[in-house]
Amino acid sequence: MRTLNVHIKDKAYPVVIDTALFSRIKWHDIFGPPPVSCALITNTTLAELHLPAVRSYFQKLVPQFAEIILPDGEEYKTLATTGEIYHHLSQAGLDRKSALIAFGGGVITDITGFAASTYMRGVRYYQIPTSLLAQVDSSVGGKTGVNLPEGKNLVGTFYQPDGVMCDLSFLETLPPREFREGMSEVLKAGFLAGGKLLRILKEKTRELSSGIQDILEEVVYLSIDYKREVVEEDELESGIRAVLNYGHTIGHALEKAAGYGVLRHGEAVAVGMVGEAIIGKNLGFVDPGFISLQEEMLRASDLPTKVSVPVSREIFFQALRQDKKKEAGQLRISIVKESGKPLFGIKIDEDMVSEVLPALCEVVEP
Ligand SMILES: NC(=O)c1ccc[n+]([C@@H]2O[C@H](COP(=O)([O-])OP(=O)(O)OC[C@H]3O[C@@H](n4cnc5c(N)ncnc54)[C@H](O)[C@@H]3O)[C@@H](O)[C@H]2O)c1
Ligand SMILES: [Zn+2]
Repeated sequence: MRTLNVHIKDKAYPVVIDTALFSRIKWHDIFGPPPVSCALITNTTLAELHLPAVRSYFQKLVPQFAEIILPDGEEYKTLATTGEIYHHLSQAGLDRKSALIAFGGGVITDITGFAASTYMRGVRYYQIPTSLLAQVDSSVGGKTGVNLPEGKNLVGTFYQPDGVMCDLSFLETLPPREFREGMSEVLKAGFLAGGKLLRILKEKTRELSSGIQDILEEVVYLSIDYKREVVEEDELESGIRAVLNYGHTIGHALEKAAGYGVLRHGEAVAVGMVGEAIIGKNLGFVDPGFISLQEEMLRASDLPTKVSVPVSREIFFQALRQDKKKEAGQLRISIVKESGKPLFGIKIDEDMVSEVLPALCEVVEP
């Protein structure tokens, strides 16, 4: 069992990582006194696969324990679902001293965190992330939120959890495509962090994809630790936290332009990192050796380095401009000069993106 502590402003919380957490963890020793009442929020998939072990742990720990089981899917990460959660909480008699526990992937942790930050003006909040992406990405940093019909994550809060429990054994049931999506964010952390994380990833990419757990534990630990370091320095993303968007500017636009369901987020980020690295090279920042290392490692994780379907130039740039609006009209990317040396806030223009687009997909002209 490994523990790391995240310190953000006046709040500190432990993240515990283990391969058989619920048979070993001593709540009091790590998180202090347990709440008197709590609600665990999960979805139908996780409820079927893993709820019994988690339920029996909390039923022994907490006198008043409730469960809320949501349907599975990003389409339920909405204000309407949040409203239903509030009703369940108040009907179950949960008050300001209660805690919410998110048990699931990033969808569940985002919506539960949002509900926890707003119910009774904020209650205690614990996470049990069950996807690789949720463990290495959503577990630290305190971003919570829901989607609007107008776009993803448009409503949300910064709300740090009181504790995070990452049990790697849950990953055994994660579908391979979801695992690879998480690997994309792990590789991103590796490129940004360099050092030991990148070294293990370089040597063990294949073994990791087959889910070998002792290496995975080290990799999850180091990925979370890197994100911890970044968000401790810049909680609200006014500076260095932007490095974590590496691959995401082009990735988001490709995700939208490829059409719903073609490219998953992690896959789009993989191609996005390829594109942003080439732009960085064209600007004279990025070492060509890094570009080939990155492509090799993405391939070894069975992640795409190119989009498999034709992409309309027009739809791609529309999507890119939508993202640009959020950044006050200026396109910016983060790049990795060489492993472990990221730069953020690099201003780019549409011509630079246009130039790399044919390397990322077959471009359909209007
Ligand atoms: N808050 C943050 O910092 C942050 C960071 C990155 C992503 N996100 C959000 O996270 C979401 C994506 O997260 P995700 O990729 O985990 O998606 P997800 O929560 O939809 O999970 C993916 C699928 O895997 C299933 N699943 C999860 N764990 C499983 C397990 N152990 N066994 C079997 N099936 C399992 C889920 O039920 C779902 O069907 C997005 O909504 C995104 O906006 C948030
Ligand atoms: Zn991402």
